[in-house]
Amino acid sequence: MSETENEADTVTFTVDHGIAWVYFSRPAKRNAMSPKLNRRMMAVLDELEFREDVGVVVLGGEGSAWSAGMDLKEYFRETEANGLRGVRKSQSESYGWFRRLRWFQKPTIAMVNGWCFGGGFGPLFGCDLAITADEAKFGLSEINWGILPGGGVTKVVVDLLPMRDAMWLTLTGELIDGKQAAAMRLVNESVPLDRLKARTEDVARMLLEKNPVTLKFAKDAVRRVGLMTYDEAEDYLVRMQEACNFHDKTEGRKEGIRQFIDEKSYKPGLGAYDK
Ligand code: ACO
Repeated sequence: MSETENEADTVTFTVDHGIAWVYFSRPAKRNAMSPKLNRRMMAVLDELEFREDVGVVVLGGEGSAWSAGMDLKEYFRETEANGLRGVRKSQSESYGWFRRLRWFQKPTIAMVNGWCFGGGFGPLFGCDLAITADEAKFGLSEINWGILPGGGVTKVVVDLLPMRDAMWLTLTGELIDGKQAAAMRLVNESVPLDRLKARTEDVARMLLEKNPVTLKFAKDAVRRVGLMTYDEAEDYLVRMQEACNFHDKTEGRKEGIRQFIDEKSYKPGLGAYDK
């Protein structure tokens, strides 16, 4: 497949009313992440990041998988055949777009429809929110073929899960379904597969109502403060809010106060101000 597969086909997307629907598109290979897919995903993220008609990015999977993790043939075996240079290049391509996703300008939602293995936990964590189908299956299968969950995956499960759950998934390679993943807080919510897209769209629309500049500062703050002391976080958040005020040329913060206090046209406790 690697010689004949067109790189542009490995990830597809459409933009519709503010939402970019991006799909892993190698269903015949269960959306395993090959070097071509990794390069294509970076190019797609590049294209979408500052488009004015995109407010939220959703990452889904074509067919029965979200992603079966790294492509064992094309990502591991074939790049290893090119020595350390090949290995480091393919690592930088995959880690590169996972990182890009973690700090993406727009809020991102993982819409997990099916299999999610190993390296797939990288983009799962890269997305700010995650909605899954009850029918989806998640697993750290690395242990089943003799490697530890690398590429940041061990860090992902330790950051997202209590130690016992992280250890269980890592050592047993056992699968969990969408409902278990939601109970464990690996994802935000689990819904039946036939409601997955509609529910994801509802959540995306909720985000589209918010101030887009504030969303970016707020999501970065959530990822950053975890490693800080309380005092560091307090200081950082004051500065982030000031930077947010500077970047928000609409002066949304003042407008939000005005619509509540002067106009009495909305209640901040119940929804977003009118942008
Ligand atoms: N790497 C390379 N090829 C893959 C991968 C993968 N991760 N996953 C699936 N494929 C390929 C299969 O080799 C097969 O190719 P073929 O049609 O040319 O023979 C095709 O996709 C379909 O796979 P099946 O196994 O036939 O599909 P099925 O639906 O029965 O099973 C499942 C799906 C459970 C996902 C299975 O394919 C599987 O176990 N894949 C590997 C999962 C995994 O361990 N990923 C690595 C995680 S570790 C890491 O990412 C670092």
